[in-house]
Amino acid sequence: MNLSSALKDRRNQAIPQGVGNLSSIFAQRAENSEIWDVEGKRYIDFASGIAVVNTGHGNPKVLAAAKEQMDRFTHTCFHVAMYDSYVELAEKLNEITPGDHKKKSMLVTTGAEAVENAIKIARSYTGRPAVIAFNGAFHGRTLLGMGLTGKVMPYKKGFAPFPSELYHVPFPGGYRGCEIDESLAALDDLFRSEVDPSRVAALIIEPVQGEGGFNPTPPAFMQALRKICDEHGILLICDEIQTGFARTGKMFATEHADVIPDMMTLAKSLAGGFPLSAVVGRAEIMDAPHPGGLGGTYAGFPPACAAALAAIEVIEEEKLCDRAQVIGDHIQDRFKAMAADGFECIGDVRGLGAMVAMELVKDRDQKTPDADLTKALLGEAEKRGLILLSCGTHGNVVRVLVPLTVSDEVLNEGLDILEQALKTVIG
Ligand SMILES: Cc1ncc(COP(=O)(O)O)c(C=O)c1O
Repeated sequence: MNLSSALKDRRNQAIPQGVGNLSSIFAQRAENSEIWDVEGKRYIDFASGIAVVNTGHGNPKVLAAAKEQMDRFTHTCFHVAMYDSYVELAEKLNEITPGDHKKKSMLVTTGAEAVENAIKIARSYTGRPAVIAFNGAFHGRTLLGMGLTGKVMPYKKGFAPFPSELYHVPFPGGYRGCEIDESLAALDDLFRSEVDPSRVAALIIEPVQGEGGFNPTPPAFMQALRKICDEHGILLICDEIQTGFARTGKMFATEHADVIPDMMTLAKSLAGGFPLSAVVGRAEIMDAPHPGGLGGTYAGFPPACAAALAAIEVIEEEKLCDRAQVIGDHIQDRFKAMAADGFECIGDVRGLGAMVAMELVKDRDQKTPDADLTKALLGEAEKRGLILLSCGTHGNVVRVLVPLTVSDEVLNEGLDILEQALKTVIG
């Protein structure tokens, strides 16, 4: 039995099945866009730890900043003894997020925690209870995060009841979404049949749905939501946890829609591989909760704050927004060429910047999702040394979240593996 199999056995004995694994890889080390397992096998990483290492695994500047901080101290708890990197990062986030208005930022640790805090702040500011989210949305695995999530498997099944006063409307656009007008009509209907808009604190939306299938929010829809929120005093929260930090070709995906949200939730690539999340918002909104109402023991972990400042510098210095666009266009071109060149199973190719996906179907006319083929493709790609992820409410979307620091050579090698793997599994 090799080391990976032995570790897998121990994992199965010690860790519950609910802690899902998307591959059978046990990582030994990683560098930029490559991972080596405990057997020494090399993998090209098209997952980035689910959109966390946009600046690459082990980015030297990010690591150096975190190490320098670790040598000074790792933890004081910001509520007990403050530190400058928290302040500097808040200033930086206030500066780089959309809008020239006065903003404030708070730090926590995970994406779900950022979502929870954004909702707490929205409720505190508006004095209203209700929150609206979208079908297909993903906002985390806490009770409130699950409640806001619009995807049952694997996130919600068996875990109810969820908090009350959470509502969902259909998500528009793209391959499977409804028309924008239908979604707006459903929102209007919700206001008439379920919850008066004067009781709604916030509407939360991903500028590109991540787990839901890489579905970009149509800019016209985002603009319509902005208007509706303004009309009713509802806060617009953009969940940029997966889309942020250059992934979509702009620092934040909301910028594509030319809309200024009231609050944004950030995490994942914020700190280039360290656990850190943030809520950024209008100063008067962020200041609504009373002193002590926000925070946590580990909130704003000092090495993660230092890493985040370095990661943002890398994104700016290395022009990773431009690079994301180039990478994304290249992947879309490859996928579209495959779709046109005999791969009938590719029903749709879509994305924004370097957040690119192909949807696999049994037949193009009916758009019948092919989750089995998707699973087989991911397995074959792994065998051939490529880490790929799926997503989508039907489990049939292949998504690419390669580090934005990937070289052309490694990117093309990964795309070649993907194509060969798909060829193999369709037989
Ligand atoms: C849009 C979005 N919101 C929230 C989350 C939850 O983040 P975390 O897993 O760090 O709690 C995710 C994670 O994938 C996400 O993509």
